[in-house]
Amino acid sequence: MLGDTSFAIHPGKEQQSGSKTYRDIGKLHNYQEKDNTYMFSCENGTIAIQFYTESIVRVIMNQKNPIDLQGSKAVIAKPKKVTIEVTDDDERILLSTINVQLVITKEPFRITFKDSQGREIVSEGKYGMAYRENGEVIACKQMSENDHFYGFGEKSGHLDKRGEKLEMWNTDVYAPHNPETNALYESIPFFMTLREGKAHGIFFDNTFRTFFDMKTSEEYYSFSAEGGQLDYYVMVGPHPKTVLEQYTYLTGRMPLPPKWSLGYHQSRYSYETETEVRELARNFMEKDIPIDVIHLDIHYMNGYRVFTFDKERFPNPEKLIADLKEMGIRVVPIVDPGVKKDAEYPIYQEGVQEDHFCKYMEGEIYYGEVWPGISAFPDFTEEEVRKWWGEKHAFYTSMGIEGIWNDMNEPAVFNETKTMDVSVMHRNDGNPTTHRELHNVYGLLMGKATYEGMKDNLHGKRPFLLTRAGYAGVQRYGSVWTGDNRSFWEHLQMSLPMVMNLGLSGVAFTGPDVGGFAHDTNAELLTRWTQVGAFTPFFRNHSAIGFRYQEPWQFGEKYETIMKKYIQLRYIWMPQLYSLFYQASKQGLPVMRPLLMEYPNDAKTYNLNDQFMIGDNVIMAPILSPSVTNRVVYLPKGDWIEYSTGDSFEGEKVHLVHAELEDLPIFVRKGSAIMHGEWNSNQDKETKVLTMKVYTSNEDGNYQFTFYDDDGETFAYENGEYLKLDLDIQSVADSINVVILDTEGNYRPPYQEIHIETVGSSKRILINGKESNIIKL
Ligand code: GLC
Repeated sequence: MLGDTSFAIHPGKEQQSGSKTYRDIGKLHNYQEKDNTYMFSCENGTIAIQFYTESIVRVIMNQKNPIDLQGSKAVIAKPKKVTIEVTDDDERILLSTINVQLVITKEPFRITFKDSQGREIVSEGKYGMAYRENGEVIACKQMSENDHFYGFGEKSGHLDKRGEKLEMWNTDVYAPHNPETNALYESIPFFMTLREGKAHGIFFDNTFRTFFDMKTSEEYYSFSAEGGQLDYYVMVGPHPKTVLEQYTYLTGRMPLPPKWSLGYHQSRYSYETETEVRELARNFMEKDIPIDVIHLDIHYMNGYRVFTFDKERFPNPEKLIADLKEMGIRVVPIVDPGVKKDAEYPIYQEGVQEDHFCKYMEGEIYYGEVWPGISAFPDFTEEEVRKWWGEKHAFYTSMGIEGIWNDMNEPAVFNETKTMDVSVMHRNDGNPTTHRELHNVYGLLMGKATYEGMKDNLHGKRPFLLTRAGYAGVQRYGSVWTGDNRSFWEHLQMSLPMVMNLGLSGVAFTGPDVGGFAHDTNAELLTRWTQVGAFTPFFRNHSAIGFRYQEPWQFGEKYETIMKKYIQLRYIWMPQLYSLFYQASKQGLPVMRPLLMEYPNDAKTYNLNDQFMIGDNVIMAPILSPSVTNRVVYLPKGDWIEYSTGDSFEGEKVHLVHAELEDLPIFVRKGSAIMHGEWNSNQDKETKVLTMKVYTSNEDGNYQFTFYDDDGETFAYENGEYLKLDLDIQSVADSINVVILDTEGNYRPPYQEIHIETVGSSKRILINGKESNIIKL
């Protein structure tokens, strides 16, 4: 791996190791500025520095050609007009905005970023930016002994990636997913550094295979790519939340998902017939287990041909979909990119005749084997192809389908390399580029085609998209599940840091296959996993062909009762979760987050893998091992109340907590509040009574949060059809005063009031200073 040799860089000199030689960018010759872009002509190439905002700076190195400012399709922001102060002396150039200062030394060319307090955040020393003759590019940055690294998209292992080497190359990994399995389905070359309580971020926008080495040295870390430009953005933070806001300012935020997609999803590879699907739905109804979605895996299709239904297995899909909708259940079918090579199959015919498939430069279509056998793959890098594919989804929407599940879009191919030939030449909107360079964005662009096509076809309704592969920016189109995990306790454990790091990579709507996909699950594992799943942003139980069925009732009543309770809890917490999804859509902040995001000064949170937060005031401490009913819980600053027992716990302490199989320890910070709806039935999921639970504190203080709601289904919120309350809970002596700071929007929810309840020591409740416990809407 390239990272192994990053220390072969010597400023301005070449090493004697043949193709392994790195050439440093060398000394600065001269520079010029145009439209906030500074071009530095150096001994061995050109460097550009561009200011996107006062806090986001882009650096590009191109060793051979003129700098290309276009970037990948991940970045949607444009550089803003920023006031920059320039100082130039013999040795250094200083470029400063109000939030960041770049200190550039001339010989050799090195950049140090300092924050507004003058602290070095990203700095180069002995090593800087360099390349090899074979096209590889690398950046080395100084590492401090207090650095902790997060993000990197979907990765196995622990939360803090210090001491790891990470690789980005979208890969279909059926097995194993273990700490050594590095490249998975998603490539998000973004990370956040936490250094002494302050955070900054780096987004390496290079779609080739990339590497991050936070392991080899204690003094340096590096990021490198097989080709392309060294193109990266520094986000100065300084809070972890600000870094994410900055990163998602660049790469976009999640559109508000339909509310139904936040409910419980049931899936299996596969429910193979209409009869089986109907029986499944009936079981949920009869058992009154909440459900919003049933997924149809590949068996619904005719010979795995996308945009078809198998007429024998599913004789009347329209009716099935309509009947399920009556029960409150949506159907989400899988759509893979591989289009079966079959001269009598209209999608294939069109694809060939209208020239939509990926091809070699010489003109031959690329064929690879996937579920349908030999298949061709749409070239999603081309606008016209994305449009064609998007429009095809009318097949599904005309049947009442509002959500699509994209799988195998790395793209996965059943061959040795697991993917498409890297020499395939994508058309790439008029800029032909090899698959080697665009591999990591294939899934992102399929997601774009699907989301946009569905949105057009749904005429005002919000589409739901679930995708397996992606690149930075995938949050703009879809939610992500973490692929083919297995029914192991270790995989339940690993899913927590994995989902948290995805959240720290801008992807708020994620979750693993609850219960585990492959391997036989068991009653205890499924129960514990369902407790966690009730609070992961995406909540789907999915299992693989040939393994045990794992619907909530498969292991008898004892387990079913517990799982039902937790699935119901998901719905009771829905108003709280939906407000957090709103926050994700506005600021890019994750719904499920590691404690370090809220407590960046508390070193005990830096690698806390087995606890997570929902929003800024709730900590989940699930049981993640078999036969265990006690666990250690670390609670940070503040006082806490356990949700189901009402017991009080002191913060900045470790506690031993007891949790029988039916218990999930949940801690709510005193002085804060959560919103609760209610669970009625599958046919009536509307909350008619909304409750604000205020966890009382003996300390004086206040807690601010935003409650958000809308119809959950359409884009009417874009025209003011929403309800937004900015609330401030003020705790003083014997009372709590709920102050409504601001009310916005025209949406009239089905509940007309919010009931306020206190949990903990009883206190008088005031609303805007007047005694009352009901907010009238
Ligand atoms: C892949 C997916 C899995 C799906 C299966 C069949 O393995 O990751 O979720 O069930 O393909 O479509």
